[in-house]
Amino acid sequence: METTLKDKIALVTGAGAGIGLAIARRFAEMGASVVVGDINEKAALAAVPQLPTPVKQEHEAAAMDVTDRKSVAAVMKRLGDRFGRLDILMNNAGVSTMNRLEDLTEEEWDFNFNVNVKGVFLVTQAALPLMKERGGRIINAASMAAVKAAPLLAHYTASKFAVHGFTKSAAIELAPFGITVNCVCPGYVKTSMQDREVVWEGRLRNMSPAAVSAEYVEHTPLGRLCLPEDVADVVGFLASPQAGFMTGEALNIAGGANIV
Ligand SMILES: NC(=O)c1ccc[n+]([C@@H]2O[C@H](COP(=O)([O-])OP(=O)(O)OC[C@H]3O[C@@H](n4cnc5c(N)ncnc54)[C@H](O)[C@@H]3O)[C@@H](O)[C@H]2O)c1
Repeated sequence: METTLKDKIALVTGAGAGIGLAIARRFAEMGASVVVGDINEKAALAAVPQLPTPVKQEHEAAAMDVTDRKSVAAVMKRLGDRFGRLDILMNNAGVSTMNRLEDLTEEEWDFNFNVNVKGVFLVTQAALPLMKERGGRIINAASMAAVKAAPLLAHYTASKFAVHGFTKSAAIELAPFGITVNCVCPGYVKTSMQDREVVWEGRLRNMSPAAVSAEYVEHTPLGRLCLPEDVADVVGFLASPQAGFMTGEALNIAGGANIV
């Protein structure tokens, strides 16, 4: 793989597992030094030795809660002290719960909005002093649920539409600094989040988790679940020199599930 991100510093939030880990791996393959941020410190620490070092770069783990301004500030200070800048920010950390609207709790609403929306805002804002001078790339994890209705996920869908909107506004405000802001909208991705969701959805719809998962495949014209690496491919492109003139975009990575 071409190391077009050589000498770049990348922070990936929620990179201890799933899509974030695949993205951290891709940035590392492309030559970036990657900071693996995660609320699960053990997972972040375990991820670092798995990252390739084709141009002898150094990766590190950072325990961080994207919903906590102080925790976010501490990571940015560390990045500033060590590297003096940040080139690529991947706001990947996100959570979900599933419920019928009539049973949805305020706690679920707040949990989803705090991590998925406030987290993106807090980390983006705190990163700006490290990005403004040299420009850079911000990529946000939205979802197919940021462009299309998702039943049993009204709160999650609302939070991901918010990420989509935030991406577009931020793209305009940050363009003068040479910072592009885009988001990705993955479909049904095989991760621990999906493993939990098929159990919840199965319970709510009186189906087995396997039957729910089979439905996800049926709803995907390309006929399989999305893999974290499918998302990492597109995020790697958005971080690459070839995507330098794209901003404010929402890219679907859903095998066509978003168009049916
Ligand atoms: N899995 C899917 O089907 C799917 C589809 C579309 C979009 N997404 C989005 O992609 C992103 C990654 O999802 P995933 O499926 O890999 O999830 P996952 O649950 O497998 O992994 C999420 C990671 O984020 C970390 N995290 C959670 N809360 C955090 C916080 N407050 N601060 C820092 N880290 C935190 C977790 O510890 C975990 O390591 C999320 O934003 C999710 O909404 C997922």
